[in-house]
Amino acid sequence: MGVTRSLLLAASQSAWLRARATRYRFVRRSVNRFMPGETLKDALGAAAALLEKNIGAVLTQLGENIKQASEAAGVAAHYFEVLDAIHQRNLRAEVSVKLTQLGLDLSPDVCLEHVKGIVSRERKQATVWIDMESSSYVDATLEIYRRALAAFPNTGVCLQAYLFRTKNDLQNLLPLKPSIRLVKGAYAEPPNVAFPKKRDVDESYFALARELLRARKTGQCARVAFATHDARLIGRICEFAAREGFSEREIEVQMLYGIQRAEQDRLAREGHPMNVLISYGDYWYPWFVRRLAERPANVWFMVRNLFAR
Ligand code: FDA
Repeated sequence: MGVTRSLLLAASQSAWLRARATRYRFVRRSVNRFMPGETLKDALGAAAALLEKNIGAVLTQLGENIKQASEAAGVAAHYFEVLDAIHQRNLRAEVSVKLTQLGLDLSPDVCLEHVKGIVSRERKQATVWIDMESSSYVDATLEIYRRALAAFPNTGVCLQAYLFRTKNDLQNLLPLKPSIRLVKGAYAEPPNVAFPKKRDVDESYFALARELLRARKTGQCARVAFATHDARLIGRICEFAAREGFSEREIEVQMLYGIQRAEQDRLAREGHPMNVLISYGDYWYPWFVRRLAERPANVWFMVRNLFAR
């Protein structure tokens, strides 16, 4: 892992930096590149705009590791409101939730009830996605996922290609007909848990993608979404998929709001189901610093904003 990336990922966990950085206007201006605004209304507006380009949305309220049970209940209630708003506006949008924001650190059982409450309000043809957080949460997240999936087949989970364990986790999930969103992984993980080299993460992603497509073909996977901005990797997956007889319509790609917009438009035009994850809310500091770590050139973008008027 590069030094800049390690430093940024360490900074993402600093409460001291969070308290300071969020006060600066130039930081907030940089955040706007990745976030249409702090409110649900901003996110719904962005989802409606994407729809005009035939791009769907996945909405997520920023926040993690809440400390009080009442906060978790508040987050669940917020997602009920989000789903109502999506349904009323007839938007092509879904939601993605973080389990530590729904109380996983306090009580896995209560967290599961919140997840089930949210999925029970979603339409059957739409998926409620569960984010994957740092490696210490993988077992607990997959356990909650299995239990939620048993009750609601339209629950999906994120798997991270940088973890050595993911190949095995995927094999264990397949008998349950899961919906999988495959990502590279965004957290600082030690080398005994995750591939330290980007090249190895990319190869792991491609190998898992092939596995997922095979599972999709045999009906073992309900839905597969390739969540990456890596155009080369997407190209390799699409080539493999075409050889296996998949059409563009069957290869879903997801990206983050504000990243690789031209590529998002191109994939949507070519007929791929293209969905963009829109984050909103005021707890954006750790999430934003993870975005900087993914592409340290973004730090220069932020520095330029320091001088912008
Ligand atoms: P990679 O980092 O190799 O980037 C490929 C190219 O994309 C770069 O060369 C650059 O051009 C562009 N790019 C990537 N990130 C950028 C950025 N921040 N700013 C500007 N350009 C950028 N992670 C996780 O651990 N748990 C989760 O639940 C999720 N959920 C999730 C959902 C969705 C829809 C997406 C797209 C991503 C996630 N992630 C995630 C994040 C994921 O793990 C990963 O950190 C990022 O997607 C960046 O990795 P890429 O696959 O894009 O490749």
